[in-house]
Amino acid sequence: MASAEVKLSQDELKKQAAWKAVEYVKSGMKLGLGTGSTAAFAVDKIGQLLKDGTLKDIVGVPTSIRTYEQALSLGIPLATLDEVPELDLAIDGADEVDPNLHVVKGRGGALLREKMVELASKKFVCIVDESKLVQGLGGSKDAMPVEIVQFCWKYNLNRLQNLPELAGGKAKLRMEGDKPYVTDNSNYIVDLYFEEPIKDAHAAAKAMSSLTGVVDHGLFLDMVDVCIVARSDGIEVQE
Ligand code: 5RP
Repeated sequence: MASAEVKLSQDELKKQAAWKAVEYVKSGMKLGLGTGSTAAFAVDKIGQLLKDGTLKDIVGVPTSIRTYEQALSLGIPLATLDEVPELDLAIDGADEVDPNLHVVKGRGGALLREKMVELASKKFVCIVDESKLVQGLGGSKDAMPVEIVQFCWKYNLNRLQNLPELAGGKAKLRMEGDKPYVTDNSNYIVDLYFEEPIKDAHAAAKAMSSLTGVVDHGLFLDMVDVCIVARSDGIEVQE
C-alpha cells in the first residue's frame, strides 16, 4: 500500500515550532512571552506544563495586552519589565526571517513591547513556519510596520516614505475599520510595502530611528539567537 503523504497545516507547523521552543524553558526562568498566533501556541504549552507540575517558578513578561490576557487565563505568574528587568529567555514569532536571522516583526501591532522584552532577554528564540523565510527583509511584499506617535502622523508618514534608505517603500497608515489602528501604547502604525527587499536593513533601521516621533520599527536586527523553523518535512533549528 502506498504511504499517504500528510500535508501539515500552517497552524500545525506553527504549533510544532512553538512546542520545540518550549523545550528551552526550564523551571525558575523569567520568560518573555511573545505575541501572535505562533507565540500563542508556546504560551498555551507553558501554561499546560505549569499546570501539570512539569515547570515550576516561572515568571512571564507579556509583550502585549492580548498575551497578558492569555497568560493570565492560563494562570502563568506575570510581571512587568519594571519588576523583572532581566529575562532568561523570550519566545516569539516573526513575519519575515532572512538567512542571517534578521527579522521583521509587528504585523500583529506589538512591535514596541516585543522589542523591549526581547532586548531584555539573554536568549531570544524566534519561532516560524517555513512561509516566513525570505532572502531579504521586505521581500515578502507584505508590511514592514513602524510605530509612530499620533501627533502629526501624516508628517511622519511622509518622512518615512521619503527616506532614501527605504527607497521604493510605499507607506500606509494601518486602519481598523474606518479608524486608525491604535497600539497598546496608544500610538499609530505605518506599514511600509516594498517591491524589492530593503537593500541595507541596518541603514534603514538607523534612518527610521533618527526620526523624532517614530517610536520604533519592525526591523529586529542582530537580535535572534535561535530560530526554529517548522517545515513540512521537519523542524530546523538555526543558531
Ligand atoms: C506581532 C508579531 C508577530 O510575532 C508576528 O506578526 C507573527 O505573527 P504570527 O505568529 O501570527 O504569524 O510581530 O506584533
